[in-house]
Amino acid sequence: MNNKVSRIVTCALPYANGELHLGHVASTYLPADIFVKYLKLKGENVIFACGTDDFGTPILIKAEQEGKSPQDYVAYWYKRDKEDFEKLGIVFDIFHRTSSEDSIKLAQYFFKVLREKGYIYKKKVEQYYCNNCNRFLPDRYVKGTCPYCKAENQYSDSCEACGRVIYEGEILEPKCSICGNEPIKKESEHYFFKLSIFGKEIKDWLLKNKNLQNDVKNYVISWIDMGLQDWDITRDISWGVAIENGKVLYGWFENHLCYISSVLKYCEDKNLNGKDVWNSSIIYHFIGKDIIYHHYLFLPAMRLGEGEFKLPDFIPVRGHLLLEGKKISKSRGWYISLREFLEKYYADYLRYYLARIISYSQADANFEWSSFKEVVNSELIENIGNFIYRTLSFIWNKFNGFVPSPENFDNIDNEFLERMKKLPGEIEKYSEALEFEKALKLIVDFSSFCNKYFQEKEPWKGTANTCLYLSANAVALMCNLLYPFIPFSCEKIKEQLNFEKLFWPDLTKNLIISEGHRINKPYPIFSKI
Ligand code: 2FM
Ligand code: ZN
Repeated sequence: MNNKVSRIVTCALPYANGELHLGHVASTYLPADIFVKYLKLKGENVIFACGTDDFGTPILIKAEQEGKSPQDYVAYWYKRDKEDFEKLGIVFDIFHRTSSEDSIKLAQYFFKVLREKGYIYKKKVEQYYCNNCNRFLPDRYVKGTCPYCKAENQYSDSCEACGRVIYEGEILEPKCSICGNEPIKKESEHYFFKLSIFGKEIKDWLLKNKNLQNDVKNYVISWIDMGLQDWDITRDISWGVAIENGKVLYGWFENHLCYISSVLKYCEDKNLNGKDVWNSSIIYHFIGKDIIYHHYLFLPAMRLGEGEFKLPDFIPVRGHLLLEGKKISKSRGWYISLREFLEKYYADYLRYYLARIISYSQADANFEWSSFKEVVNSELIENIGNFIYRTLSFIWNKFNGFVPSPENFDNIDNEFLERMKKLPGEIEKYSEALEFEKALKLIVDFSSFCNKYFQEKEPWKGTANTCLYLSANAVALMCNLLYPFIPFSCEKIKEQLNFEKLFWPDLTKNLIISEGHRINKPYPIFSKI
């Protein structure tokens, strides 16, 4: 393996303020993890980074409600999220946090450099202030009506209904979200980032970059064409990256910098020059469609302004997961917690189902219990699982566990062989294009073909050698190709196949398993839902 890091993959950082649910997994973490597992199987040196987003008003509000210090509060969720990801087989090379010392230092450094370069200025602004609670009320401390789409009961910094970022003072009919009083306006001095002057440079970058999804690009360009406003990047609260005069940085100024700090930290621990690694890698930031604005405008503008860390090459955006056709909402209790789900169902069933229904687009996918059951039972278990088990148990029972030597190949054997040889290349093409649902569908179709083949060959009638030789190789092939999707099961299949390790197969020269290879005693790895 070449030791040079070739790609960096990050996922949107979950807020450290509540449990992960299936929606998070579907839009961001699972697709990124599938991609990273695929790259690592191919022997690429990848850094997969994530962490918790620890600062900001929502977290302070929740900590206050629970009577905890914000530090203790986020420490709890950091641990929880880390465990939940592991249970789903999502393995980061580093799971960092925005409140770590190095992340804070990097955010302060960006603030300093951007200010020195003239991209940050001070301005007196009127801020919402609650006379009842005696405090300034940034962002989530105020609720009201969205000035763009008129949706009610929206937080004052963004609208859940139309996805727009709402700027300070724009929200209509504001109310204090703690006590419900109407806030007054009070003067405070804030720092502003000159987002307005970056419009042209971001637009040029968007137009040049062929890796970004066109519909997302057009959407962002239309925002740029409407004119970008300078952006208030400080808050009068106690929980955040401190700068000066008791002010802290707004969460969206600093959270994405943790993509960089986590990679720098990882590299430091490995004695690598983090900045070089960053600037020489292909960079992917996987996100859900609700945070396009932040990743396509704030993030590139800050990197362009600071100048030392390259922009992302890919910002893959996926739509939301609906639950039985309805939008997931934690506040309304309409969601499925990842932890609870995994207490009842095997992680690979969830990975499999979500990977089948999410596409690489802004379109929403829909989780339905009935389809979850149907897809897992019919495709993963009856189709894929069945072929694997029938092949391995046939070899175990009829050939004492040794893969037989092939004899003559007839047309259907040759067709089988050709399909096997072609499959890795096809999967590779879709995986590089980030279209994992299409890659998985190809494997399902291949497995259907395998079952049909086995059925037609009727190895139980006598001439079984070629059939079982090829089928064993098909199992080995599927085990490797399916690993990014269902890693827990593939580890078990790997044991049954008596393999040392999994790898990305290249069948142009040889098949994976040679005649005479001894397998281990097989057992069914799935049981129906
Ligand atoms: O929307 C969210 O859940 C944010 N916590 C995502 C942050 S991503 C980042 F750090 F850029
Ligand atoms: Zn109040």
